[in-house]
Amino acid sequence: MDYKKNIDKVLYDRDILAARVVEVGRQIRADYAGKDLVAVTVLKGAFVFAADLIRAIDLPMAVDFAEIISYGEGTEIAEEVVLTKDVAVNVKGRDVLIVEDIVDTGLTTAFLVDHLRIRDPRSIQICALLYKPAMQRVEVPLRYVCFEVGDVFAVGYGLDYAGQYRNLPDIVTLKEIPPEE
Ligand code: PRP
Repeated sequence: MDYKKNIDKVLYDRDILAARVVEVGRQIRADYAGKDLVAVTVLKGAFVFAADLIRAIDLPMAVDFAEIISYGEGTEIAEEVVLTKDVAVNVKGRDVLIVEDIVDTGLTTAFLVDHLRIRDPRSIQICALLYKPAMQRVEVPLRYVCFEVGDVFAVGYGLDYAGQYRNLPDIVTLKEIPPEE
Protein backbone atom coordinates (compact mmCIF):
# COMPACT_ATOMS: atom_id res chain seq x y z
CA MET A 1 0.00 0.00 0.00
CA ASP A 2 1.13 3.53 -0.76
CA TYR A 3 1.80 4.96 2.68
CA LYS A 4 0.98 8.43 1.41
CA LYS A 5 -2.67 7.44 0.84
CA ASN A 6 -3.13 7.58 4.60
CA ILE A 7 -2.22 11.28 4.73
CA ASP A 8 -5.18 13.46 5.67
CA LYS A 9 -4.09 17.10 5.96
CA VAL A 10 -0.84 19.01 5.81
CA LEU A 11 -0.47 20.84 9.13
CA TYR A 12 2.87 22.53 8.40
CA ASP A 13 4.44 22.24 5.00
CA ARG A 14 8.19 22.24 4.38
CA ASP A 15 8.32 25.97 3.59
CA ILE A 16 6.50 26.97 6.78
CA LEU A 17 8.75 24.63 8.76
CA ALA A 18 11.92 25.99 7.17
CA ALA A 19 10.91 29.61 7.80
CA ARG A 20 9.94 29.02 11.42
CA VAL A 21 13.05 26.97 12.19
CA VAL A 22 15.26 29.75 10.82
CA GLU A 23 13.36 32.29 12.94
CA VAL A 24 13.80 30.25 16.12
CA GLY A 25 17.43 29.54 15.23
CA ARG A 26 18.05 33.29 15.07
CA GLN A 27 16.45 33.79 18.50
CA ILE A 28 18.69 31.09 19.92
CA ARG A 29 21.72 32.63 18.30
CA ALA A 30 20.94 36.00 19.89
CA ASP A 31 20.37 34.41 23.32
CA TYR A 32 23.42 32.15 23.28
CA ALA A 33 26.10 34.45 21.88
CA GLY A 34 29.15 34.15 24.16
CA LYS A 35 27.79 31.05 25.92
CA ASP A 36 29.02 27.47 25.79
CA LEU A 37 26.15 25.87 23.90
CA VAL A 38 25.53 22.12 23.86
CA ALA A 39 22.48 21.05 21.82
CA VAL A 40 21.08 17.75 23.10
CA THR A 41 18.68 16.18 20.61
CA VAL A 42 16.12 13.66 21.83
CA LEU A 43 16.01 10.62 19.54
CA LYS A 44 14.51 9.51 17.52
CA GLY A 45 11.79 12.01 16.63
CA ALA A 46 13.82 15.24 16.88
CA PHE A 47 16.66 14.29 14.54
CA VAL A 48 15.21 15.97 11.43
CA PHE A 49 14.24 19.16 13.26
CA ALA A 50 17.61 19.29 15.01
CA ALA A 51 19.51 18.91 11.74
CA ASP A 52 17.78 22.03 10.41
CA LEU A 53 17.78 23.94 13.70
CA ILE A 54 21.49 23.65 14.45
CA ARG A 55 22.32 24.91 10.96
CA ALA A 56 20.15 27.95 11.68
CA ILE A 57 22.17 28.77 14.82
CA ASP A 58 25.29 30.55 13.64
CA LEU A 59 27.37 30.01 16.78
CA PRO A 60 30.03 27.60 17.98
CA MET A 61 28.29 24.65 19.61
CA ALA A 62 28.61 21.00 20.56
CA VAL A 63 25.92 18.49 19.68
CA ASP A 64 24.93 15.27 21.36
CA PHE A 65 21.99 12.90 21.55
CA ALA A 66 19.86 11.10 24.13
CA GLU A 67 17.25 8.45 23.47
CA ILE A 68 14.33 8.00 25.80
CA ILE A 69 11.56 5.45 25.54
CA SER A 70 8.32 5.64 27.49
CA TYR A 71 6.02 2.74 28.27
CA GLY A 72 2.35 2.77 29.24
CA GLU A 73 1.47 5.79 27.13
CA GLY A 74 -2.28 6.34 26.79
CA THR A 75 -3.09 3.83 29.51
CA GLU A 76 -4.10 4.15 33.14
CA ILE A 77 -0.77 2.66 34.16
CA ALA A 78 1.83 5.19 35.26
CA GLU A 79 4.32 5.85 32.49
CA GLU A 80 7.78 4.45 32.81
CA VAL A 81 10.46 6.51 31.15
CA VAL A 82 13.72 4.76 30.29
CA LEU A 83 16.95 6.28 29.03
CA THR A 84 18.25 4.01 26.26
CA LYS A 85 21.06 6.29 25.07
CA ASP A 86 22.82 8.74 27.32
CA VAL A 87 24.56 11.99 26.47
CA ALA A 88 28.32 11.44 26.20
CA VAL A 89 29.66 15.02 26.26
CA ASN A 90 30.52 16.65 29.55
CA VAL A 91 27.83 19.26 30.22
CA LYS A 92 29.22 20.56 33.52
CA GLY A 93 29.25 24.36 33.51
CA ARG A 94 27.86 24.48 29.97
CA ASP A 95 24.61 25.80 28.46
CA VAL A 96 22.44 22.88 27.45
CA LEU A 97 19.65 23.28 24.94
CA ILE A 98 17.37 20.23 24.75
CA VAL A 99 15.92 19.82 21.24
CA GLU A 100 12.58 17.99 21.20
CA ASP A 101 10.22 17.26 18.34
CA ILE A 102 7.11 17.29 20.52
CA VAL A 103 6.26 17.99 24.13
CA ASP A 104 3.07 16.16 24.89
CA THR A 105 2.66 15.05 28.52
CA GLY A 106 6.05 16.59 29.26
CA LEU A 107 7.24 13.40 30.98
CA THR A 108 10.09 12.71 28.55
CA THR A 109 11.46 16.24 28.72
CA ALA A 110 11.07 16.49 32.50
CA PHE A 111 12.96 13.21 32.86
CA LEU A 112 15.83 14.46 30.69
CA VAL A 113 16.03 17.79 32.50
CA ASP A 114 16.31 15.98 35.86
CA HIS A 115 18.85 13.55 34.41
CA LEU A 116 21.09 16.32 33.04
CA ARG A 117 20.72 18.66 36.00
CA ILE A 118 22.69 16.20 38.17
CA ARG A 119 25.71 16.84 35.90
CA ASP A 120 25.73 20.48 36.90
CA PRO A 121 25.32 22.39 33.63
CA ARG A 122 25.26 26.20 33.89
CA SER A 123 21.81 26.29 32.28
CA ILE A 124 19.23 23.99 30.71
CA GLN A 125 16.62 25.27 28.27
CA ILE A 126 14.21 23.47 25.97
CA CYS A 127 13.41 24.03 22.32
CA ALA A 128 10.36 22.13 21.04
CA LEU A 129 9.17 21.91 17.47
CA LEU A 130 5.60 21.15 18.59
CA TYR A 131 3.94 21.74 21.94
CA LYS A 132 0.58 20.23 22.89
CA PRO A 133 -0.50 22.20 25.97
CA ALA A 134 -3.79 20.26 26.34
CA MET A 135 -1.88 17.06 27.04
CA GLN A 136 0.65 18.40 29.52
CA ARG A 137 0.92 16.50 32.81
CA VAL A 138 4.14 17.86 34.22
CA GLU A 139 5.36 21.41 34.05
CA VAL A 140 8.35 21.90 31.76
CA PRO A 141 9.48 25.44 31.01
CA LEU A 142 9.74 25.67 27.22
CA ARG A 143 12.07 28.49 26.21
CA TYR A 144 11.44 28.07 22.48
CA VAL A 145 8.38 26.60 20.74
CA CYS A 146 8.01 26.54 16.96
CA PHE A 147 4.30 25.64 16.88
CA GLU A 148 1.61 25.12 19.51
CA VAL A 149 -0.80 22.40 18.39
CA GLY A 150 -4.16 21.07 19.54
CA ASP A 151 -4.90 17.43 20.23
CA VAL A 152 -3.81 16.14 16.83
CA PHE A 153 -1.68 13.16 15.93
CA ALA A 154 1.01 14.59 13.71
CA VAL A 155 3.62 12.71 11.70
CA GLY A 156 6.43 13.62 9.34
CA TYR A 157 9.58 15.76 9.68
CA GLY A 158 10.90 13.17 12.15
CA LEU A 159 7.62 12.31 13.89
CA ASP A 160 6.38 8.76 13.41
CA TYR A 161 3.38 6.51 13.50
CA ALA A 162 4.43 2.94 14.23
CA GLY A 163 7.95 3.77 13.15
CA GLN A 164 6.89 5.15 9.76
CA TYR A 165 6.46 8.60 8.18
CA ARG A 166 9.57 10.16 9.77
CA ASN A 167 10.95 10.88 6.30
CA LEU A 168 8.01 13.02 5.11
CA PRO A 169 9.24 16.59 4.51
CA ASP A 170 5.93 18.07 5.80
CA ILE A 171 4.09 17.60 9.09
CA VAL A 172 0.73 15.96 8.36
CA THR A 173 -2.20 14.23 10.02
CA LEU A 174 -3.34 10.73 9.07
CA LYS A 175 -6.78 9.52 7.98
CA GLU A 176 -6.46 6.36 9.98
CA ILE A 177 -6.15 7.43 13.60
CA PRO A 178 -3.83 5.13 15.47
CA PRO A 179 -5.48 3.02 18.18
CA GLU A 180 -4.66 3.74 21.83
CA GLU A 181 -1.68 1.72 22.91
C1 PRP B 1 7.94 11.35 21.44
C2 PRP B 1 8.70 12.64 21.24
C3 PRP B 1 9.09 13.04 22.61
C4 PRP B 1 8.04 12.40 23.48
C5 PRP B 1 7.12 13.45 23.99
O1 PRP B 1 8.86 10.32 21.45
O2 PRP B 1 9.82 12.45 20.41
O3 PRP B 1 10.37 12.60 22.93
O4 PRP B 1 7.31 11.48 22.69
O5 PRP B 1 6.08 12.89 24.71
P1 PRP B 1 5.78 13.25 26.22
O6 PRP B 1 5.84 14.73 26.34
O7 PRP B 1 4.39 12.70 26.44
O8 PRP B 1 6.79 12.57 27.08
P2 PRP B 1 8.45 8.81 21.19
O9 PRP B 1 8.27 8.11 22.52
O10 PRP B 1 7.31 8.73 20.24
O11 PRP B 1 9.76 8.21 20.56
P3 PRP B 1 10.51 8.66 19.21
O12 PRP B 1 11.04 10.05 19.43
O13 PRP B 1 11.59 7.66 19.10
O14 PRP B 1 9.50 8.61 18.10
